[in-house]
Amino acid sequence: MKTLYYKINTYGCQMNVHESEKIAGMLEARGYHATEDDTLADVIVFNTCAIRDGAETKILGNIGATKKLKKAKPDLIIAVCGCMTQQKSRADEIRAKYPQVSIVLGTHNLADFGKYLDTYISDRHRSTYLEDTERPINEDVPMYRTSGHNAWVNIMYGCNNFCTYCIVPYVRGRERSRNFDDIVHEVETLVADGYPSITLLGQNVNSYGNDLHDARFTFPKLLARLDQIPGDYVLKFMTSHPKDLSSELIDIIASSKHISHTIHLPVQSGNNRILALMNRRYTIEKYKGIVNEIRSKIPDSHLTCDIIVGFPTETEEEFMDTYNLVRDIRYDGVFAFMYSPRRGTPASTMEQVPSEVKHDRINRLLKLSKSIIKENSTNFLDHDYHALCDKIVDDTAIFLLDCGKTVNVKLDGSENIRCGKMYDIHVDSLKNNILWGRKINL
Ligand code: SAH
Ligand code: SF4
Ligand code: F3S
Repeated sequence: MKTLYYKINTYGCQMNVHESEKIAGMLEARGYHATEDDTLADVIVFNTCAIRDGAETKILGNIGATKKLKKAKPDLIIAVCGCMTQQKSRADEIRAKYPQVSIVLGTHNLADFGKYLDTYISDRHRSTYLEDTERPINEDVPMYRTSGHNAWVNIMYGCNNFCTYCIVPYVRGRERSRNFDDIVHEVETLVADGYPSITLLGQNVNSYGNDLHDARFTFPKLLARLDQIPGDYVLKFMTSHPKDLSSELIDIIASSKHISHTIHLPVQSGNNRILALMNRRYTIEKYKGIVNEIRSKIPDSHLTCDIIVGFPTETEEEFMDTYNLVRDIRYDGVFAFMYSPRRGTPASTMEQVPSEVKHDRINRLLKLSKSIIKENSTNFLDHDYHALCDKIVDDTAIFLLDCGKTVNVKLDGSENIRCGKMYDIHVDSLKNNILWGRKINL
């Protein structure tokens, strides 16, 4: 029998990366095999993102480029799913402008992707499957993990926050938390399978359990429970919203065995007027208070953040509040974005900042953050870390610290180091902005 192949093109956040593992699971269950070669594929899936205009433009261009493939192979099945197609206008546009696309589906229909594929194979009718509201969580979707040493685990879906710039609440629906015991069971299985890194996913993980209405099932309690699972692994999570990052959570991280000390805490802006316009529901004073508490209780913590520059009406002085915040907090990573108007969100109708101003602000901010990250590198010198051997290239092992920094270790052949395992290392030197170290036995 002919071997059938699939290729999944994933855009957007980790949530989408993990959802592509579920799409892969449904395809593998039907006997398909993964390929990176477009010309070999019998099914091509675009798992899309709508967070910024740039993402959508790029995806539409890539879908457009499949016209030739379909011409050369008329049986090719092209499916488009994810956050972009959850917007009805985009789903309609794809159907109208890209006749090579066979199946269009929204985020709420993902669990039925396999069934839609079966239907298309039997009737060859182009179809759109788009529901307005979320369904209950379906635990029966098969999963084919593809992310190497890290395993993703959804703990919740959707978002209730409605930050005024953001499309996510419209395309992902309201918050739904997974069952506590299902999550514990999944993480136990992953640890038993030997995953050295496990990342819990949610748009706002601190809201975990709000919809479960049971004081035993909150995010801090979930982390505390997961931390008790024995094994050699690091537990990460993203993303935390500063408005409800509690002292209880910080205490649990500080006293945990497995929870990463790198915390991604998006600030978005350093100015209170802009934060209020964004509907972020915290002030910069409150944010700085959280940072101080994290740093005093977890001295070896690392902080990263997301920032939007050029939010509607942002003045130069207000941008400088953000710039100065980055300078003062000295983040270990800054993910900065130029504000991009999203159809249907409140900020899209506010007074816009010119594009060249946004470019100028992002360039200044990234230059600052780059120089801080470079200076921060010296903080790693002479410290010990329990780190993951991520890759071995020739005679050098590349270790990944959980803050995302890499440390190179020259191998002399006697260390018996294996990729995907955790080891204790000591950082000795910094050469050309690269950290070098050695394996130690603690
Ligand atoms: N739920 C997460 C992140 C979601 S999206 C959180 O609340 O932190 C990831 C990042 O994309 C956001 O933190 C924000 O910085 C950025 N982003 C979201 N909408 C945007 C828009 N319209 N324009 C530019 N950046 C945006
Ligand atoms: Fe978007 Fe805000 Fe929800 Fe994050 S918390 S997904 S930025 S609405
Ligand atoms: Fe993009 Fe959807 Fe994630 S809009 S950032 S893929 S939740």
